[in-house]
Amino acid sequence: MADLATERPDPSGSAPILVASNRGPVSFTSEDDGTLTLRRGGGGLVSGLSAIEDPNAVWVCAALSEADRTAARQAPDGRLDLAGHDVGGQAVRMLDIDPGTFARAYNGIANSTLWFVHHLLYDTPTSPVFDERFRREWESYGAYNTAFTEALAAEAAPGAAVLVQDYHLSLVPGRLRELRPDLRIGHFSHTPWAPPEYYRLLPDDVAAEVLTGILGADRAGFLTRRWALAFADCCEALLGAEVDRAALTVTYRGRTTALGVHGLGADADFLRERAHRPDVDARLATLREAVGERRTVVRVDRTELSKNIVRGLLAYRHLLRTRPEWLDRVVHIAFAYPSRHDLPEYREYTAAVQRIAHEINDEFGTSTWQPLILHVNDDFPRSLAAYRLADVALVNPIRDGMNLVAKEIPVVSDQGCALVLSREAGAFAELAEDAITVNPFDVIATADALHRALTMPAGERADRTKRLAAAATALPPQQWFLDQLTALG
Ligand code: G6P
Repeated sequence: MADLATERPDPSGSAPILVASNRGPVSFTSEDDGTLTLRRGGGGLVSGLSAIEDPNAVWVCAALSEADRTAARQAPDGRLDLAGHDVGGQAVRMLDIDPGTFARAYNGIANSTLWFVHHLLYDTPTSPVFDERFRREWESYGAYNTAFTEALAAEAAPGAAVLVQDYHLSLVPGRLRELRPDLRIGHFSHTPWAPPEYYRLLPDDVAAEVLTGILGADRAGFLTRRWALAFADCCEALLGAEVDRAALTVTYRGRTTALGVHGLGADADFLRERAHRPDVDARLATLREAVGERRTVVRVDRTELSKNIVRGLLAYRHLLRTRPEWLDRVVHIAFAYPSRHDLPEYREYTAAVQRIAHEINDEFGTSTWQPLILHVNDDFPRSLAAYRLADVALVNPIRDGMNLVAKEIPVVSDQGCALVLSREAGAFAELAEDAITVNPFDVIATADALHRALTMPAGERADRTKRLAAAATALPPQQWFLDQLTALG
């Protein structure tokens, strides 16, 4: 970090507000003739950022593919908006980071290490192993964080507010503060935070650097109080930092970082409008035909280890095995769209999901009833159609920062839905009262919860759905974002 401090640039940028995240608001694909096609992504950050009216705000993100890299290289300083791309009225600077460095940082550290730690995903008898390869990945993670730091330092106007997102960029706040002490820096974790006993699996120096990196921010934001306190516990246990749990502050080496809790909610206006467009109606008709008069249990996830899809399927199988009254009377709609397929664990997990789904259809299916409809490709309008059709929503993650699906289905479902919800999802903090809550590891309890949800009286279901939807939309993405900006001062 010393080399950064000696190259201190003039604070010459013009952006008063900046956002930094690994995944940006747009991505590119390259056609056979070499032309680039731009796609706008969705998600809370994209809609949250639309609240900013300042035309000079800049979003700094990484190029994630070869097509992204080409687009970034062709744009002046990676500024896609200046290259004439329609990035939705925002200024977007896409960083063309060396592909090897990017892969080691993103796959090796962010997704195989920090994600695994915070979601408690390791099979500890065999992993993790922190060896030379890990050290190379860690070095690349440092270089990748430095690339973001330098871009932010160059774009930021004096005194600007910088909102750094997630575990990919945990070293940025500390490094940026060294380069630009004039900035107001926020960091936001969209994941859970690990408890100290698990967090200290990381090599000591790495564990400390991640914590002090985030403590470089003026505010460190989390989705729930539980994750904010876990972070504070780690700072206390590993760094000896002083923690004030009532005020939610961490003081380390004379500086105090405020912890903030901002429970991102569903975007009701967007969802309700989008879920009633013709492409969704068409998919709804197809699903209705397959389901007939039967009840539905719906889940929609990335094919993500922490989402616990396999145990969800085992619970459904247990339900059909032990409560034959549901045979031919229910259909489980499970959409698991592809994610992080560079990691072998994710490819194997997808295969396991498909295998168990086949087994269930083989065991119970008849010529007129397919008990399980599984899709492992991405189709957003089809997901919304499934939301509308849901009698029961199944959200059973092992551990999850928030889980927006738990918030979206009650908002969109046509007839109201009963929510089966893991007590380890961040959404539990806001939705527990009107959900049927489960221990995600207990397949039998999850099957019982599905049965309870499927038999919930219509009036109770409607009342609960109304309250779930109200709680789920209490903090819409734009307000979520503005609150953080305001809190930064
Ligand atoms: C989680 C993370 C996000 C990430 C998303 C999708 O929600 O908190 O930062 O963008 O997963 O994962 P991906 O690796 O595809 O960006």
